Amino acid sequence: MTTRLARRVAGFGTSIFTEITALAIEHQAVNLGQGFPDFAGPDFVKAAAIAAIGDEHNQYAAAPGLPRLRQAVAAQWCRDTGREIDWVSEVTITSGATEALCDALLALVDPGDGVVFFEPAYDAYLPDITLAGGNAIPVRLHPPTDGGGWWFDADELRAAFARRPRVLLLNTPHNPTGKVFSPDELSLIAGLCQEYDVTAVTDEVYDRLVFDGARHTSLATLPGMWSRTLTVNSAGKTFSVTGWKIGYVVGPASLNHALRQAHQWVTFATATPLQLAIATAIDEAPARGYFEQLSAEYTARRAALISALQAAGLAPLPCEGSYFLSVDLRPLGIDDDRAFCRSLIHDCGVAAIPASVFYVDGATAPPVARFCFAKSLATIAQARERLGGWRVRLQG
Ligand SMILES: Cc1ncc(COP(=O)(O)O)c(C=O)c1O
Repeated sequence: MTTRLARRVAGFGTSIFTEITALAIEHQAVNLGQGFPDFAGPDFVKAAAIAAIGDEHNQYAAAPGLPRLRQAVAAQWCRDTGREIDWVSEVTITSGATEALCDALLALVDPGDGVVFFEPAYDAYLPDITLAGGNAIPVRLHPPTDGGGWWFDADELRAAFARRPRVLLLNTPHNPTGKVFSPDELSLIAGLCQEYDVTAVTDEVYDRLVFDGARHTSLATLPGMWSRTLTVNSAGKTFSVTGWKIGYVVGPASLNHALRQAHQWVTFATATPLQLAIATAIDEAPARGYFEQLSAEYTARRAALISALQAAGLAPLPCEGSYFLSVDLRPLGIDDDRAFCRSLIHDCGVAAIPASVFYVDGATAPPVARFCFAKSLATIAQARERLGGWRVRLQG
């Protein structure tokens, strides 16, 4: 029997992560491709999960999330932004940011509605838009040419809004570029959302990972934006437990209500003991100095990977946030990032992700390789050794 795939999934194919991971295993490469930590999550968070399981918190949670975790998220939002929010109606817990983003689009986008987003874009955005039946309206982020950061053309963004989209999907700090949208850029985006009555869904999973004095600003905190913004986050990134898949969404009751209409039938609820452990993590993190420690450790990992790439003749572009470094391959005379990443695994034993996969039309993307530094210093040192040997062989 031939299985006929529904049109909404028929074009999805196999993700680049599957291909690169399989190649990395085959060649025993140091895997700087997929974005997850290869080091342990914090002991106090793991202990809280183990205790929750032992204490029999093992049955379904309430669909919007355990009260304790929603209260912790609401208190954190108040600490970070100064705004008091209602944990009952303005916070929803999801199975990772991935589920939250999909729920949001399923809940807010009708077939034919436009969704504006910047590309390169996290790889779930386009499939999510497709699942919702929406029309993708990508706006290009351009690689820096003058030592500055990735940038966009304001006229291009205005033209995208003039197509009267329903939703703007914004990711800051941004994967894969490491861009942190500036207050001026956010003001422009906020103005357009209000002018064209667009709902914003912001993906802020790397909000704690910013460097060189950069400051993360939530779009929802700009004047006029709270009432039209859903802010998505992920405990997996912040607490180095990506496999737990605990995400959360903050926004006005009306938008949370909309999101919950999808959430109740997509997963209904997410893992009870892990929600409890993340409540402990969020509550205790400030007093434990956890965020400062996280930032210091990631600053060291980023510096180690920058130095390893530079030593191999691969100059990384500026990265103000996230845990990714990208390398523009054009100065090396390379125009195919997929071929480059395959040969890097094969010839050098290091895996990276070709950033052209993060575009609607990869053929028109600049050739860029993305390297993840959510890796132990030992892993990065191993990558450095291999990259050094590869450079010598290239020159030899
Ligand atoms: C920008 C971005 N959004 C969302 C996610 C998914 O987060 P989660 O693991 O919580 O589903 C990722 C994971 O890599 C990401 O990079």
